[in-house]
Amino acid sequence: MLIHIPGVFSRDEVGRIREALEQADWADGKITAGHQSAKAKHNLQLPESHPLSKEIGAAMLERLWSHPVFMSAALPNKVFPPLLNCYRVGDTFDFHIDNAVRQARGNPERVRTDLSTTLFFSNPEDYDGGELVIQDTFGTREIKLAAGDLVLYPGTSLHKVNPVTRGVRYASFFWTQSLVREDAQRALLFEMDTAIQRLTQDVPDHPSLIQLTGTYHNLLRRWVEV
Ligand code: NI
Repeated sequence: MLIHIPGVFSRDEVGRIREALEQADWADGKITAGHQSAKAKHNLQLPESHPLSKEIGAAMLERLWSHPVFMSAALPNKVFPPLLNCYRVGDTFDFHIDNAVRQARGNPERVRTDLSTTLFFSNPEDYDGGELVIQDTFGTREIKLAAGDLVLYPGTSLHKVNPVTRGVRYASFFWTQSLVREDAQRALLFEMDTAIQRLTQDVPDHPSLIQLTGTYHNLLRRWVEV
């Protein structure tokens, strides 16, 4: 399941973030890549300990933790904190699957990477190339979103970032361990929750809503891991 969530940050917020990123001291992206993916990865990244990573990461998570669509689609349990990356002309990250388990530096807790999230900080017109290419069950999708938008996709998917051929592409990404491990089960719950939300708006007093909401929670109870 691929989910596009628009406008997580406003145009002004994104402008301020991008200005800060333009001034930052970037490091080689290979620092957080696994052994195999280091060969495929050619970009810049802000170190995990960089104050700007922490500040932007915290702002993203705060925003998403109160975002009903993100919460319903991801059913987050815990996250590997957001990292920031920068692709200049010629930078690319070839096809790979992310490591299954990540551990943030200095933190004993491990995170299973059920879901990946990429949040775009550059506008599509500011660079050429740099599409996030994701292979899912419907084939290959090329994703290039407005600054401030994000895409949520399963950690099991093969993906890459096309070479940038003009301009600079700033983005952030992070991994989420979901309360529901299987993408297909999470997708069912999301569909059902979305339908319940719509019915709650359109026919708030319908007695079947209680039954349907109960069924949602009973399904979630079967599948949840805490
Ligand atoms: Ni990746």
